[in-house]
Amino acid sequence: MIDIASGHPAIDRYLSESYERVRGMSSRFAAAICGHLIRRQAALGIGGGLVEIGTFEGRFFIAMALGLAPGETAIGIDRFDWPNAGVEGRFLANCAANGLSSGRYVSWKADSRTIKPDDLQGKLAGQPVRFAHIDSHHSRECLTNDLELVTAVLHHDGIICLDDMLHPGYPMVVGAVFDYLARHSEMRVLCVIDREDIVAAPKFLVCRSASAALYENDLLASFARFHFTMNADMETYFALVLTPHPRLAEVE
Ligand SMILES: C[S@@+](CC[C@H](N)C(=O)[O-])C[C@H]1O[C@@H](n2cnc3c(N)ncnc32)[C@H](O)[C@@H]1O
Repeated sequence: MIDIASGHPAIDRYLSESYERVRGMSSRFAAAICGHLIRRQAALGIGGGLVEIGTFEGRFFIAMALGLAPGETAIGIDRFDWPNAGVEGRFLANCAANGLSSGRYVSWKADSRTIKPDDLQGKLAGQPVRFAHIDSHHSRECLTNDLELVTAVLHHDGIICLDDMLHPGYPMVVGAVFDYLARHSEMRVLCVIDREDIVAAPKFLVCRSASAALYENDLLASFARFHFTMNADMETYFALVLTPHPRLAEVE
């Protein structure tokens, strides 16, 4: 098990005791880094809702929601029809078993493509979204929908985490991200979180360029031993890269 922690006691207890037992696809490595960011946002006074599109049985959602500050809500959106109808029941049971009381979160059975930004903000009583994880259908069309949906209600200093970027099974999907970044020149890739495994693939963290300084140096300082020093060449800037086992090819 990779020795990594978020620094948030409830999240870290879940990551060390139960995370791998809740069926799901996101890596513990990525969940710890995202938990750290959710904790940092609260420390900086950045408030709002936490949203996951594509909760499945709740593995990553629980890690996020355990980082809720008082008065905040987490929204878990899923069609809850795959691989069978029991998935929503398992999601609710996993949330309860891991200390999430039903008043803290909303389980929203819906296809994200039918949700309008106002509907989402309504579920959050008008609060913006401060951290979102997009992990639904891995198609350019669905990712584009989900990115625009979340961006419309994103806190100025909010973060969007995108699952399965650069996954060998979904090579086309990252195209939707670059199209999105071209449409939204105010946004940038903050960090690439590398894979643990092919079933726990890389994630991108995206935020407004103006907010990157709130997170970048802190991530670097907190996770220095996971830093891939070459970073990610985004052509006009470099994004941070964190990887479970950093190393460079030997050339001499
Ligand atoms: C890979 S699983 C999510 C894994 C989970 N986030 C984790 O880290 O363990 C993808 C989920 O997205 C859901 N999904 C796919 N397309 C969707 C859509 N358009 N709207 C809502 N949910 C969707 C599926 O039902 C499935 O549960």
